[in-house]
Amino acid sequence: MARRRIIAGNWKMNKTPSEAVALVNELKDLVKNDEVDVVYCVPAIDIVPVVEAVKGTNVQVGAENMYFQESGAYTGEISAAMLKDAGVKYVILGHSERRDYFKEDDVLLNKKVKKAFEAGITPILCCGESLEQRELGVTMDWIRLQIKSDLDGITAEQVKELVIAYEPIWAIGTGKTATAEQAQEVCKGIRDCIAEMYDEATAEAVRIQYGGSMNAGNAKELLAKPDIDGGLIGGASLKAEFGDVVNA
Ligand code: 13P
Repeated sequence: MARRRIIAGNWKMNKTPSEAVALVNELKDLVKNDEVDVVYCVPAIDIVPVVEAVKGTNVQVGAENMYFQESGAYTGEISAAMLKDAGVKYVILGHSERRDYFKEDDVLLNKKVKKAFEAGITPILCCGESLEQRELGVTMDWIRLQIKSDLDGITAEQVKELVIAYEPIWAIGTGKTATAEQAQEVCKGIRDCIAEMYDEATAEAVRIQYGGSMNAGNAKELLAKPDIDGGLIGGASLKAEFGDVVNA
């Protein structure tokens, strides 16, 4: 069965609530496409107004992070139940910026992945190597470690719903995209890893995105690769260009 493509924008720490609504309205007609899943992953404070603004469109809303605890004394954190209640369908987990700047490790991420599934929110689980790791030739070792740790205890049925985003750290926000061949090689490696951990049917079902300086100019070539099922787009998701990526 063919996997449905998924193009998600990761707005990162951009757009105030009023700017967010303006952007949604600007993009509304540009991202119309019934053949792909279109997702805006937005800052927590933008979730409620963006959910409202996308009503009646093909766009779904995602969060950029969440905490794994149910509720309680965790000042500044947001729970899966809060996201779910607000209308969130996806949550980005393990983005390299969170792993790096906020010291999120695989033990924590595994708890977050479990909690997201429990709440009925689909994780977009990010993985990816640094330039140093790529040059050392340990890219796939590193990514397999991330995937295996983050998915510890997750069932095959859950993984079939999961989205994995391969984002080489050296390609994020740098304008330096991985070649379509490099991206395909790793996405295939991730699918092989899932087949090893679960089975072929699970590996065939899981959707794998590429992320890292993806834009209107390179999206078509990347998306033509057999193991690349979509994109996680940073910079280019904040402008009209995002419509071109969706329609690529
Ligand atoms: P850029 O598209 O800005 O390189 O960001 C990619 C990314 O980190 C998406 O999560």
